[in-house]
Amino acid sequence: MPKKPEIPYLTPRAITDALRMQVRKELPEVAQIGDTALQRKVVDAWAFALAHSSFRSIRDIPPAGNPDYNQVKRGDQTDHLRGVTRLAVGIAKEMGTAYPELAIDMDVIVAGGLVHDVGKAWEFDPVNRKRWKALQKQTGRPSIRHPAFGAHICLTVGLPEEVAHIAMAHSGEGELLVRSLECMIVHQADYTFWNTLLAGGQLKPDTVPPATRKYVIDRPF
Ligand SMILES: [Fe+2]
Repeated sequence: MPKKPEIPYLTPRAITDALRMQVRKELPEVAQIGDTALQRKVVDAWAFALAHSSFRSIRDIPPAGNPDYNQVKRGDQTDHLRGVTRLAVGIAKEMGTAYPELAIDMDVIVAGGLVHDVGKAWEFDPVNRKRWKALQKQTGRPSIRHPAFGAHICLTVGLPEEVAHIAMAHSGEGELLVRSLECMIVHQADYTFWNTLLAGGQLKPDTVPPATRKYVIDRPF
């Protein structure tokens, strides 16, 4: 039997109150969640994600949609999470004013916006990426994309399925199922975030995937 290369797994760190406090500082929109138990679980989700990764802070995660794609020229992952959350709140407020019968759950919108990419700490982690590169035949590459890993984290820390669903289905995986109303709003906010930066020339050109490269402003003709 061929010998498998020795590729390390991450050793999880402790989830401390200091880490939880740091997450609250990095994602101040947590305070907009009315239900304090839900606030705590959102914080726990990110504290769990960081403790099970090489990243010490959400700010250490690059501002990209996927590890190799759609990287913003400046900022970090908190800009994306906060931007998507605020966009989703904006959509929900406007649509909810025009159509009150939508009965949008604002707590689920804010919680879902803040944790929709919680799985990125796993998918972007350099230790994991090194292992997947070396063991692609055995693990796949990545073994689990951030939406699925994010849903795993959400359920592990006790977030409700309405929020775990947003982590699971905000991206392409959502095409395989029917999105909830709040998930559809966060999904639209997420795509608006990336597409606006793309059309405005704010993504690093060499990270824009072929399907949308025509929008790169400084591409050669
Ligand atoms: Fe996102």
